[in-house]
Amino acid sequence: MVRRCTRFTSVVVFLVGCAALVSVINVRELSVTLKTKLRVAKLSFGAASGLNNEKRTCDPRSRNERNGRNCNDKPPNVIRGLTYKSRGNVSLELCQAVPDLLVGRLIINFVAALKSPPPPALQDVSPGGTWSPKNCVATQRIAIIIPFRDRQKHLDILAYYLVPVLKRQEVAFRIFVVEQYGNKTFNKGRLMNIGFTEARKYDEFDCFIFHDVDLIPEDDRNMYTCSENPRHMSPAVDKFKYKLPYKGLVGGVLSFRSNHFTKVNGYSNLFWGWGGEDDEMYHRLTASKITLLRTPFETGRYKMIKHGRKGGTSPFRWKLLKTLKKRLKKDGLNTLEYKLVETRLEKLYTRILADVGDPANDSDRLSALLA
Ligand code: BGC
Repeated sequence: MVRRCTRFTSVVVFLVGCAALVSVINVRELSVTLKTKLRVAKLSFGAASGLNNEKRTCDPRSRNERNGRNCNDKPPNVIRGLTYKSRGNVSLELCQAVPDLLVGRLIINFVAALKSPPPPALQDVSPGGTWSPKNCVATQRIAIIIPFRDRQKHLDILAYYLVPVLKRQEVAFRIFVVEQYGNKTFNKGRLMNIGFTEARKYDEFDCFIFHDVDLIPEDDRNMYTCSENPRHMSPAVDKFKYKLPYKGLVGGVLSFRSNHFTKVNGYSNLFWGWGGEDDEMYHRLTASKITLLRTPFETGRYKMIKHGRKGGTSPFRWKLLKTLKKRLKKDGLNTLEYKLVETRLEKLYTRILADVGDPANDSDRLSALLA
């Protein structure tokens, strides 16, 4: 009788033990699932800003020695751009918001960049200037839009430094050079609006980065991805002693999600000649109640390539700025006119040659506005 009782007790203890083990496993699974969900949510709602220091929990390149988890254990997710990819038997994870490959401060030498052979990183960019990481799925697809005319050397230097940075940042990118056709006065605002409009014919980009051709990034921790809000990526330029010369400066390098760029109606089309279109963008953001972010000075550093300025400054830029409220809804993306002269898929860029028209055609409109 005593022996039977003991056997019965051991069976009960064994069963209770099993039940406890199963519930512990369930709790662990639940917590892994929750953690994964949180991570996906975090990535889609802000970590991609590049200002976040999250490390990946699984590294397909290092076969996960670091944390003992296998990338293939991850459940699939469904958010566009964040889906795990399968290539053969390999399941790819999202790229890190801040990849391990980053090196921080860069040494920039314009002369060396022009004389040296192209760095290996420039070799496997596909025609049209597109690339995406091979070992993970990029958190964002970005379009770099460079308004351009007659500055091929600057473009060469920019590509020399920027392409390797983008690759280390593991973003999927396409570079658009939007070149003004002919020799009429330069209109940078129009070129940037054209870049945005044309780029959308190529891909569903998550992020648009408007980039001056003469600004070279000095720190690869300044992520070329979009935050939730527009971000001025170049607050610290050597020409201005790495300080912001005035509060409303958003020129240089500026990132936008498409909803915000559309909300401010893009750039004005009316700034002919150098300067002002970016100052107005600051006011477009304020008028549209969109908060502007800035990369911290520590990493938002750029070197400017020195050059003379062809063509004059925008003649009525200060007066024009005062008329913004009247124009915001009637001057911008929704009134953009241009002729697409040619599109060329070059080794490192999609070159868009566009005729932006003649300032003489705007003179009546400008006189009416400025009267
Ligand atoms: C111009 C801007 C320019 C800034 C920095 C200002 O005077 O209006 O267009 O970005 O200077 O060069």
